[in-house]
Amino acid sequence: MRTQVGIIGAGPAGLLLAHLLQLRGIESVVLETRSREEIEATLRAGVLEQGTVDLLNESGVGERMRREGMPHEGVILRFGGRSHRIHLSELTGGRSIMVYAQHEVIRDLVKARLERGGTILFGVKDVSLLDLDTPLPKIRFHDAGGATRELACDYVAGCDGFHGVSRPSIPSRMRREFTRIYPFGWLGILVEAPPATEELIYAYHERGFALVSTRSPQVQRLYAQCNPQDQAGAWPDARVWEELHARLAGSDGFKLTEGRIFQKGVIAMRSFVVEPMQHGRLFLAGDAAHIVPPTGAKGLNLAAADVRTLARALGAFYASGRSDLLERYSETALRRVWRAEHFSWWMTSMLHRFHDESPFHHRLQLSQLQYVTGSRAAATMLAENYVGLPFEDN
Ligand code: FAD
Ligand code: DHB
Repeated sequence: MRTQVGIIGAGPAGLLLAHLLQLRGIESVVLETRSREEIEATLRAGVLEQGTVDLLNESGVGERMRREGMPHEGVILRFGGRSHRIHLSELTGGRSIMVYAQHEVIRDLVKARLERGGTILFGVKDVSLLDLDTPLPKIRFHDAGGATRELACDYVAGCDGFHGVSRPSIPSRMRREFTRIYPFGWLGILVEAPPATEELIYAYHERGFALVSTRSPQVQRLYAQCNPQDQAGAWPDARVWEELHARLAGSDGFKLTEGRIFQKGVIAMRSFVVEPMQHGRLFLAGDAAHIVPPTGAKGLNLAAADVRTLARALGAFYASGRSDLLERYSETALRRVWRAEHFSWWMTSMLHRFHDESPFHHRLQLSQLQYVTGSRAAATMLAENYVGLPFEDN
């Protein structure tokens, strides 16, 4: 088999890259270890930045998002028993966010790809990357039927997430990794209930962080800081509600609406970056190259920004033979990556309870929350990062 760009992974990064390349007339093949049903059912992020929304709309895959997604112009920080609103759109010249689940984006992108005759090979196994520092790199794999196949390409895009094969295919002496592991995780639940709030609530409380998000008028998405080693079984429904009520309690009468919990899971939290994000003819994008703790809602958005940069660079190469954008891909992408890394670390540090920290640290967190919600300058800093800084095009 031969293609122009071999894409490993059908997550948001891989599928959006395939779509953006197709719009530029560049051929690609997407290889995915899981089935279509699995990727379309995996629950993850929910917040799209303004730039991600624009990118999906401009590239013609935003129709269902515009109909079913929920635009939010503000976000709430809650502490000391009170809610404080950050008016995102007013502070950022009209930019805002859209609550639209990641698996819905995946469904829209898979549909668009297949309708336009693009190839996604689901259920592949034993993927390996060969000859990355030659002009004809190859991807070897077993297809769903068990046959050994080889895909020769001009370029390889490693969009296979944190546990994929692409990043480890860069020789260890050629890459540098930066990691921070947090001493807590998030318990995430889906609940059959009407929304308790019109906007997302990020709550700081001495018992730990809580987040109230939404999926639809009938389904709410809630998170609570927990021990990262916890299994979901350590959180029977009664304990979940007790913690969420306690962490969101206050003097303003806010009341969480309970309902049937139909999904529960624990996610660990880490910050991670690999530098550079390219080696020979391999380019990494999304979680394959970086991880952020979810507090800033940046993971999916960074994946989209990476592939936007990569698609432009590949577009310039195939249109006019220009390779300078490709050569600078890692440098360009990493500027946005590190900004999001900092913002995600900062939001996480401000909003979570670190049990090994002293009361001095807790007072600092409260002071920071008061400053961020009380000063227009500080609120603007949060708002412009949360809705996403404008793309850098060079
Ligand atoms: P992925 O979505 O991980 O996609 C990679 C794809 O590659 C997968 O489909 C995988 O099956 C496939 N793959 C892996 N290995 C191979 C291989 N060898 N060959 C072929 N295919 C392969 N972000 C937030 O902002 N908020 C959240 O609440 C949030 N929750 C999350 C919960 C979980 C459990 C996880 C893991 C992440 C969460 N994130 C969240 C982060 C966000 O979902 C990711 O940043 C986003 O999915 C990144 O997209 P991606 O395409 O780079 O990687
Ligand atoms: C959601 C996830 C996040 O990580 C976040 O910061 C906000 C919302 C969500 O799943 O809805």
